[in-house]
Amino acid sequence: MADSPTRILALAGSLRKNSVNRGLIRAAQESAPPDMVIDLFDLAGIPLFNQDLEREPPSAVVAFKAAIASADGVLIATPEYNFSVPGVLKNALDWASRPPREQPFVGKPVAIMSAGGRFGGVRAQLQLRQIGHGMGMLILSRPEVIVEKAVEKFDPNGNLTDTGVRDQVQGLVQALGAWAQRLA
Ligand SMILES: Cc1cc2nc3c(=O)[nH]c(=O)nc-3n(C[C@H](O)[C@H](O)[C@H](O)COP(=O)(O)O)c2cc1C
Repeated sequence: MADSPTRILALAGSLRKNSVNRGLIRAAQESAPPDMVIDLFDLAGIPLFNQDLEREPPSAVVAFKAAIASADGVLIATPEYNFSVPGVLKNALDWASRPPREQPFVGKPVAIMSAGGRFGGVRAQLQLRQIGHGMGMLILSRPEVIVEKAVEKFDPNGNLTDTGVRDQVQGLVQALGAWAQRLA
C-alpha cells in the first residue's frame, strides 16, 4: 500500500460558527487514523452559481473543484433546512457539477453525516443522496450517522460531547477510508 495518507475533503452545509455539523467534522478529524488527513473546505467563500461564469469560474470555485479532484474521498456534514439541503451546500455542489466535462465528483467516494432536531436531518440526507446520484458520487450507504436531538449531544460551541455519536463518527470515517482505498 502507498505511504501517502488518505486525503479526505470535508464539507459542512452550515456556515454557523457554533454549527453542530461543523462539530461533527471536527469529531471526524479527531478520530481519523494516522494514515488519514481530513481537511475542511469552508464553503463561505463560494459565490452564488451563475451559469454565465461556469467556463471561467471565480477563483474560489476553481480552488473548490481542485480540492475535490485531488481528494481521495469527501465527507459531508449537513443540517436540514426546510426538509432539504441548505442552499449553501447545494450552491457549491451545482458549481462542482459544471461544466459537464469537468465534474470532480464523478466516481468520488463520499460519506454523509447530519445533525439536527427531531429527525437528525434524515430528509436532507435523502435529498443529498439523490443529488449525489445525479452528480456521479459514489456515496456510502452505511454506516448511517444521523444525529437527532443534537442540542443534547453538543456543547454550546458545537463540540460533540456524546461518546456514542463519537463512536458512530469514527465508524463512518473508517468506512470512508476503506471505501476510498477500494475505489482508488
Ligand atoms: C432556514 C432553516 C430551516 C430549517 N429547517 C429545518 C427542517 O426542515 N428540519 C429540521 O429538522 N430542522 C430544520 N432547521 C433546524 C436546523 O436543522 C438546526 O438549527 C441545526 O442545528 C442547524 O445545524 P448547524 O448547527 O450545523 O447550523 C432549520 C434551520 C434553519 C436555519
